[in-house]
Amino acid sequence: MPLLIIKSPHKMQAMSESYRRRGKTVGLVPTMGAIHDGHLKLVEMAVRKADIVIVSIFVNPTQFGTGEDYGSYPRAFKADCDKLQATGADIVFHPSVDDIYPFGYGTYVDVGEIGEILEGVRRPGHFRGVATVCAKLFNITKPHFAVFGRKDAQQLAVIKQVVRDLNYDIHIVAGPIVRSASGVALSSRHAYLSSDDLDKATVIKSALDLAEGLVGMGSRSPRIIETAMRAVIESVPGAEVEYIAFNRWDDLAPLKRVYGEVLISLVVTIGGVRLLDNVILTA
Ligand code: PAJ
Repeated sequence: MPLLIIKSPHKMQAMSESYRRRGKTVGLVPTMGAIHDGHLKLVEMAVRKADIVIVSIFVNPTQFGTGEDYGSYPRAFKADCDKLQATGADIVFHPSVDDIYPFGYGTYVDVGEIGEILEGVRRPGHFRGVATVCAKLFNITKPHFAVFGRKDAQQLAVIKQVVRDLNYDIHIVAGPIVRSASGVALSSRHAYLSSDDLDKATVIKSALDLAEGLVGMGSRSPRIIETAMRAVIESVPGAEVEYIAFNRWDDLAPLKRVYGEVLISLVVTIGGVRLLDNVILTA
């Protein structure tokens, strides 16, 4: 089936309703476009599970802070559609900002504490914007399930909370982190990096591997593991650690000891770009 491009929320909602009435399983993959293999992996997972796969492409202004890159965020709609066509996705939902936030728009989803730690400290209001747009996308596309990447682990945890708290009848599916051959977690923001910076970014995966190795050998102290990770990253000129954090997966409670399912997440700045990565491991 050729890829359908739908811009109107009204039309999208009516189409999804009709698929559901005919007994079709509907899957959603929300994205902001600049599609890369990480997105495509999530779409492939959705294609295997659903009769109808909707990929949303919408650069959501409410999740960007003032001074962040909303204006310059990479937009490549035509190339995105070509990539998606090859995956077997059925629909690209591509609304305008006015469609999603018309004049007089006033309702936001406040996710509380889980949105105020980690990325929420550095990007106040970010998860409120993410939760709001995802709630709207869920209502517009009426999916049975939606796929999110583990790359943005806190976002995944936030969305799971929103689904639980607001009684969405939607199954949240988690996709693995997709990396380049050199180990860098793919990101649309790599468009901002030079190839030299991308080489430097491989140190992030080395630090995560080191952490995993230390935990595997019995290390349970976040402080000691963090110190070792910092030493590896800071050995690369131009790579700066913004934070390294240890939280319980998946309520994100901060951990003083490494035990159970643990999210080790970090942001490293290279060439002025914040690179977010993580590993979830069991100790
Ligand atoms: P975006 O950054 O475009 O990411 C869309 C989805 O792709 C998210 O679920 C993200 O976690 C996943 N993803 C990105 N890079 C990945 C990688 N290397 N491996 C696996 N998955 C990856 O995240 C957003 O957009 C927005 O916040 C959104 C949820 C669409 C709301 O606006």
